[in-house]
Amino acid sequence: MTELNRLTHKKLTSLFNTEEIFIKSINTPGTEHSTIPPVDEHYVFRPDVLNALLLYLADPINDCLYLSGPSGCGKTSLILQVAARLNWGVEQLTLSGHSESQDLIGHNTLQEGRLVFVYGPLVRAMQQGEILILNELDMMSPSDLSALNDVIEGRSLTITAHDGEVITPHPLFRVVATANTKGMGDRMGFYNGARMQNQAFLDRWRFVEVDYPEAKEEREVLRCKCQRLPAAIIDKLLQLALELRRVSTEQLQDEGQDPQEDLSRYQLSAPFSTRVLVRIGAMMLQCANVSAEKVVDMAFASRLPQIEREYVKRLCLDIFGYSKKRTRSALG
Ligand SMILES: Nc1ncnc2c1ncn2[C@@H]1O[C@H](COP(=O)(O)OP(=O)(O)OP(=O)(O)O)[C@@H](O)[C@H]1O
Ligand SMILES: [Mg+2]
Repeated sequence: MTELNRLTHKKLTSLFNTEEIFIKSINTPGTEHSTIPPVDEHYVFRPDVLNALLLYLADPINDCLYLSGPSGCGKTSLILQVAARLNWGVEQLTLSGHSESQDLIGHNTLQEGRLVFVYGPLVRAMQQGEILILNELDMMSPSDLSALNDVIEGRSLTITAHDGEVITPHPLFRVVATANTKGMGDRMGFYNGARMQNQAFLDRWRFVEVDYPEAKEEREVLRCKCQRLPAAIIDKLLQLALELRRVSTEQLQDEGQDPQEDLSRYQLSAPFSTRVLVRIGAMMLQCANVSAEKVVDMAFASRLPQIEREYVKRLCLDIFGYSKKRTRSALG
């Protein structure tokens, strides 16, 4: 008998600290589990993606959920923090071009001279009613992923490598994937290694697009994660993020521009993510007598080609000012 804990709308609004909850109620695991992620008290929930995830967790309707979006925009952390608040255990796997179906299902291994089958994260999540998080799903080979087709539709899994054992999914078993692309490959080469996935496979997923948070939400993220950072510095960091994300290579190519001519029209070779923004804020708090452009360089721009690195430096000087160069003076 599965123990369930029914959370009402009222309970959810208090758990996620927002009135904007779509679902009326949700059944969550009634027992504590060692795989429940730790709560990050400083996490900021964004109503749009939070609701899409809650809607899926409450009733998957035989779907799985696919969160797509740029690197470091908060896909994986959202699932972990929702699971943490709902007391839902999690199995996590980050996939790559070398991942195989046995990494998900399990494999035979020698233990004290005996051949033993060790279950993989997919089987553990199916048995225990956990959320299986598949990070970077688009990196894995489509043929290996097709092993998931039955499971994705809510059917049982037969493990041929373990005498045909049949695993029936627990009612609270869920699958959420994250990826930088929507499974169509990566035309821009930004997310090298992302593969074109099989359409029949993708048809079985419910897609949610996650972008960088809006300025209002990202301000809140910085306020919560870098608590001593003054509001004026947070505003300048948000302005920097806006400028660096605004420009696009596609626009440049369409208009036949040369990036060397006008760098402000050129997309950077690396995404300016929320992850990077939080890193810059944290490093600013750590450093004394270091200019803002130096911190931005250490936290982000040093990975860029020289011409882009110079552009970021100039932008920092414009935003943070030439005279007040020191982080300490900027921080007051
Ligand atoms: N809403 C948020 N509240 C607090 N911190 C956030 C939020 N969104 C992102 N972050 C910060 O950004 C970091 C990166 O987020 P996360 O790992 O979820 O990104 P991702 O979208 O999964 O990236 P990738 O595609 O590279 O795996 C987090 O560790 C956290 O510090
Ligand atoms: Mg991730």
